[in-house]
Amino acid sequence: MGLFTKDIQTMDDLFLHGLKDIYYAENQIVKSLPKLIEKATNRELVKGLKDHLEETKTQIGRLDQVFKKLGKPSEGVKCPGIDGLIEEADELAGEVADKEVLDAAIVGAAQGVEHYEICRYGTLIAWADSLGHDDVVRFLTTNLNEEKAADKKLSSIALRKGVNRKAAS
Ligand SMILES: [Fe+2]
Ligand SMILES: [Fe+2]
Repeated sequence: MGLFTKDIQTMDDLFLHGLKDIYYAENQIVKSLPKLIEKATNRELVKGLKDHLEETKTQIGRLDQVFKKLGKPSEGVKCPGIDGLIEEADELAGEVADKEVLDAAIVGAAQGVEHYEICRYGTLIAWADSLGHDDVVRFLTTNLNEEKAADKKLSSIALRKGVNRKAAS
């Protein structure tokens, strides 16, 4: 950010800023997911988080493609939103003693991150569409669909696979 100038002038600048923001977020998620995986006990939860970690790495590759198509270097910009969500997840996980309650806490924290990503990708797709960047919409949509699927999977782990029930008993 410039000290004397406002760096975001046009809608294209705003779109690029949003891309850098989600690029930073995805990279922070790759760094933080292993910590949650380590703390999780439920097998389905561990597998779900591990699968999504791999997916997240692929999502970063898609964002690299988006930057390339726009003729810009791949780079992130510090995103306090995701930093806050991750910090909160780490803090909460550190405060829960019971393993089963901890699993429920991890699902909730992970879903917070997924919802953040769903919101950001939804906006980016709408902006890309308005700007006529049709060639990048499909990359962003694939990422969005993976976030939605990850969120659904987490709901199913919490509700159908018994994480919440065991935590409450
Ligand atoms: Fe993601
Ligand atoms: Fe995600």
